[in-house]
Formats: sequence, C-alpha cells, structure tokens
Amino acid sequence: MQSEYLILGIESSCDETAAAVVAGGVRVLSNVVASQIDIHRKYGGVVPELASREHLRRIVPVVREATEQAKIELRDLDAIAVTSGPGLIGALLVGVTYGKVLAQALSKPLVAVNHLEGHVHAVLLEAHAAGRSPQLPAVCLIVSGGHTILYAVRADSSNGAQWFSYSRIGGTRDDAAGEAYDKVARMLALGYPGGPIVDKLAAYGNPRAVRFGSTKMSSGNPHDFSFSGIKTAVLYHLRRNAHLEPEIEARRQALARGERGADQLRPLSSSETLDLIASFQRAVVEDLVSRTLTAAAAHGLRTVLVSGGVAANSELRRTFETEAAQRGFEVFFPSRALSTDNAAMIAAAGHARFVAGERADMLLDPSANLPLS
Ligand code: KG4
Ligand code: ZN
Repeated sequence: MQSEYLILGIESSCDETAAAVVAGGVRVLSNVVASQIDIHRKYGGVVPELASREHLRRIVPVVREATEQAKIELRDLDAIAVTSGPGLIGALLVGVTYGKVLAQALSKPLVAVNHLEGHVHAVLLEAHAAGRSPQLPAVCLIVSGGHTILYAVRADSSNGAQWFSYSRIGGTRDDAAGEAYDKVARMLALGYPGGPIVDKLAAYGNPRAVRFGSTKMSSGNPHDFSFSGIKTAVLYHLRRNAHLEPEIEARRQALARGERGADQLRPLSSSETLDLIASFQRAVVEDLVSRTLTAAAAHGLRTVLVSGGVAANSELRRTFETEAAQRGFEVFFPSRALSTDNAAMIAAAGHARFVAGERADMLLDPSANLPLS
C-alpha cells in the first residue's frame, strides 16, 4: 500500500515559480503556479536575470498559498522536494536555497529532484490517480520550450519502494520543439509564448498547403530530432512571400496594443498565413510522433509517455492517440495543467525518492545541466 506521505514540491527552474502539496505521491492537494509570462513577453523569451528576481519575489507567497490550499501546516509535511536542475542557474538557486532553509528550519528531510524526472512523474501521477498503471519500461518524450528528449524509463521495486532509472535514447540536436513554436510565432507576430496560439490557429488552416519535407538525420543516432530546419524553412517562405508582411505588421501593432490570443489575431491573419501555421504544426507533430514511436519500437517498448509544455498541443495528442492505437502502443499524457512546468510533478518524483530513502543535505547545489540517469 502507498504510504500517505505529505510532500511539498518546489519548482523554480525556468519561468514559473511553483509549489504543490502531494499526498502519497498521487493525491494533489494543491498545485500553485505563478507564471512569469507577462514579464518576459515583451522580450519574446525568458530573460534569466528577470526570472531570478521574480522567483525571489514570488517564492514565499507561492509556498504559503500551496499549504493554505492544501489545508495543512508546514509542520505536517514529511519532506520537501526541490528541483535542483537542469534549468537556469540563477532561477534554480532561488528554489534550492529556499528549500534548504525551509528543511533546516522545520527539521524536515530534503529531497533533490531532476526537473526532467518531474515531467515523467507528471504522467505517472495522473495515470495512477485515475487508476491506470502505465506498463514500465516505457519510452518518455519530454517536449517543451527547453527540451525535446526521449528516455527509456525503468522501475525496480523492493520493500514498497520504487527506484526509477532513465536512459537517454534520443533528443534534439538543435532547437527544442517548443522553441521552434515560439520562434515561428515571433516571425509571424503571434505573441509569446507561441505554442498555445499556433495550436488554436492551426485548426483554421490547411495542413497540406505548404510542404516542408521531413527532417533527414544523415548520421548519428536515428532517434534524434532537429527543429532548426523547419524554423528556417518558415523564414524563407516568408521572404519569398513578401506580400504577407503588411498583415504581420498589423498583428505586431495589435500585440503592441495588448490585443492577444486567437480571437484577436485570427481576423488579422489571411488564409495563406493560417495554412502556413497549420502546415508548420503538422510537420512538427508528425516528426515528434513518428520518431517517438520508431524509437519505442526499436527498443521493444509498447508504452509511451508524453510530457512537457508542447504535450498540451491538441494535434500532438490526437495524432499520438490515433497512431499509437493503430500501431499497438499505449500512450499517456498529463492533463494540460500538469504538462507545463509545475511543482506537483516535483513532489510526485520526490515522493518516490523519499520512500526509497534518498536525502539531500545542506550542501545541495543546483546544476544548470544536471543529467537524468
Ligand atoms: O514545459 P514548459 O512550460 O516550460 C519549459 O520550456 O520547460 O513549456 C513551455 C513551452 C513553450 O515553448 C510553449 O510555446 C510550448 O511549451 N507550449 C505549446 C503549447 N502550450 C505550450 N506548444 C504547442 N502547443 C501548445 N498547446
Ligand atoms: Zn519543464
């Protein structure tokens, strides 16, 4: 039986300050996320110095809100789990330092969690909460603004504890898929972040209108991804179609007036632009789905977990579900709320490590490039 340990998760690796309380590794009692999107929007991407400053401002109220919503006191906690990497070093430092101080002040155990392991647990947490148990080993695609990476995920159990282990089987050689969404959205003046609006506008275009061709991997790992080519292809397409420039300018001005989102920007987008958006999304989605399923088959794995900000994409979900069903794979996604960065996934990953007896000490340092193994 799962012990009902109460874990506080703290996440500050990029641009969300997040805290959550999770019971028994599966029951989310609170999940508070303070997004910094409004702060970074005018720069079109995350500005590390601003992110650190904002984490410092938000961390204490966010943790307080997480305990209040969970209706618990800090003293009720069994452990504190904190993201120690990978991510922006100045941002990670805020969460790690706060986690250490809190653990010390409350005399509670501290557990260090890899952010990528958190994304894997976002899927497992919700599947378990819904009474489903993904069969492990599995392939996990983590696809976000910072990462596009494939892991084989294994679990060994003994004495009620589970040890998870991860081996990297592929990943992007250049841009992350979410980064490609954000850069293409920027070229087209669709606002920041690009993923959610491209997702909505793509539904109004013809995905077969512009042919991008699939990305060839000439040598090296066949399970790698590359998204810089498609980003450049969109750029060249816009250069060849200079008549689209006035509508890009019109959207730029609308954004400057604070008019954002699909409802405001769709009337300013021609069918040609909507076709380009739909074709871009179709190419990215087909690439993600086919490479992930090919990698899973090559490793003899039938379960596929998909997590990270881009996992919120409706076409990606639909395509994965259809293809997986046709080809005999079982695919699991987190809800949209747990696809993007959050602390419930950190608490869930921390729970497994806590039960397995892992502890971090006051010497814990964040690491920007922390590998997952
Ligand atoms: O996981 P996340 O919140 O942060 C990290 O990058 O770690 O992911 C954010 C990324 C952004 O690039 C954003 O454009 C993308 O996820 N994204 C989406 C969607 N929602 C967020 N991409 C495609 N479709 C979406 N619905
Ligand atoms: Zn993330």
